[in-house]
Amino acid sequence: MTRAPILEARQIVKELGEGNAKIQALKGVSLTLHPGEFTLLMGPSGSGKTTLLSILGCILSPTSGSVIVAGENASGRSAEQLADLRRRHLGFIFQAYNLFPTLDALDNVKLALDVRGFSAEEAAKRAEESLRAVGLGHRLHSHPGTLSGGEKQRVAIARAISSSPAIVLADEPTSALDTENGHAIMELLQKLAKDDQRTILAVTHDPRTIPYADRVIEIEDGLIKEEANGAEAPVEAVGETRPAGGSGKTGRKRKQYANA
Ligand SMILES: Nc1ncnc2c1ncn2[C@@H]1O[C@H](COP(=O)(O)OP(=O)(O)OP(=O)(O)O)[C@@H](O)[C@H]1O
Ligand SMILES: [Mg+2]
Repeated sequence: MTRAPILEARQIVKELGEGNAKIQALKGVSLTLHPGEFTLLMGPSGSGKTTLLSILGCILSPTSGSVIVAGENASGRSAEQLADLRRRHLGFIFQAYNLFPTLDALDNVKLALDVRGFSAEEAAKRAEESLRAVGLGHRLHSHPGTLSGGEKQRVAIARAISSSPAIVLADEPTSALDTENGHAIMELLQKLAKDDQRTILAVTHDPRTIPYADRVIEIEDGLIKEEANGAEAPVEAVGETRPAGGSGKTGRKRKQYANA
């Protein structure tokens, strides 16, 4: 890959807990993400996925090692400087959507843009554009309580991309969804990652999502174990089969993860 990386993590070590309970959640993780890629981060429960995502997203500081976001080294920055870095370069998608129940879809996205300093006019324009981009043009004025799980996650994705961040990080974006909605969300993330100004990294337990990814990074016990192309990910042991209608890998067996 010749394009400049958008996100680099170098030798990340993270210690968590105190005294005797102290553990090394990450034991020297290095990772480089490029624009136009959809990457999955997979591994057993407790392997360090959320910790790594939080460090890549500059929510958590590493014990040692460095994170370089869009060319800017996050090391040694104050909490306020890190918040600024996040606002300029990062979008987040969570398992639980984290929408405001009293605001409609449009206002949920607009609020995130207000916080990032966009003018009211620009926020309104971007919010509507991003909701249309995730297929919710007809639900702009619906409140979260009247939306399905898949639609709520689409609002959350619209919110994450609305400020055009270079990096979108998603922690188990489909685990609260049924199979059909889960696949629709993966398809959407795959499509959004094709933008050559953007990279998307998603944590998932679900091996059925592998065929959507350009890269699959496996983490185990705080260390990156192996990496594969999504389309060529290791095919091992028992696995879920890919449902029909996807990107042509129907019926191939995929690796089953420990706590999928
Ligand atoms: N605040 C904390 N204090 C102490 N240990 C922690 C803390 N947060 C996480 N850990 C530990 O760090 C390790 C990595 O946790 P992490 O949440 O990154 O795992 P994960 O891969 O995201 O797991 P899951 O798939 O269950 O979400 C685990 O052993 C966990 O118990
Ligand atoms: Mg986690």
